Amino acid sequence: MPEIDSQLFRSTMGQFCTGVVVATACLDGEPVGFAAQSFVSLSLDPPLVALCPAATSTSWPRIREAGSFCINMLASDQQSVCDAFARSGGNKFEGLSWTEAGTGSPVLEGILAYVDCRLEAEHEAGDHTIAIGRVQTLEVVNGGTPLLFFRGGYGSFEPITA
Ligand SMILES: Cc1cc2nc3c(=O)[nH]c(=O)nc-3n(C[C@H](O)[C@H](O)[C@H](O)COP(=O)(O)O)c2cc1C
Repeated sequence: MPEIDSQLFRSTMGQFCTGVVVATACLDGEPVGFAAQSFVSLSLDPPLVALCPAATSTSWPRIREAGSFCINMLASDQQSVCDAFARSGGNKFEGLSWTEAGTGSPVLEGILAYVDCRLEAEHEAGDHTIAIGRVQTLEVVNGGTPLLFFRGGYGSFEPITA
């Protein structure tokens, strides 16, 4: 098997631009969540999405225990929200307004859209797992622009005009 240089792996994968989500859940009345870019729409019939939590994530075991999670798609003016949820520990929800989705998972104020899911399956994949969510409800809540992550930095979307 070829040895892959980790720096090369990171810099190459960093060329792929993604949006940023915050995956949230509520366990024993406590909200939990973490920032992620590894979100993908997986299947329309049945409606499934996927997310890849790192084995090091301290929030994911709690979200797994909750058995459901909500994907919050961040808007371009929510970099501070991303920063708060990209840290381990502490009260990440401090100062934030949120409501509950049907599963009880937090829906953060100011997001573009959310996808509320039941955890359907989880597959081990190296130093991450692939978590599959069965969509329960989803909604576009805001007509803004997305927060994008590219080459280790943040930006926003601008359409190409002819
Ligand atoms: C833009 C961005 C994308 C990220 N994507 C992921 C991801 O897909 N999966 C993941 O487990 N962590 C991802 N992280 C890192 C977690 O947000 C970070 O490790 C966080 O501290 C985890 O919190 P926790 O320990 O409460 O789970 C990302 C961070 C940033 C800033």
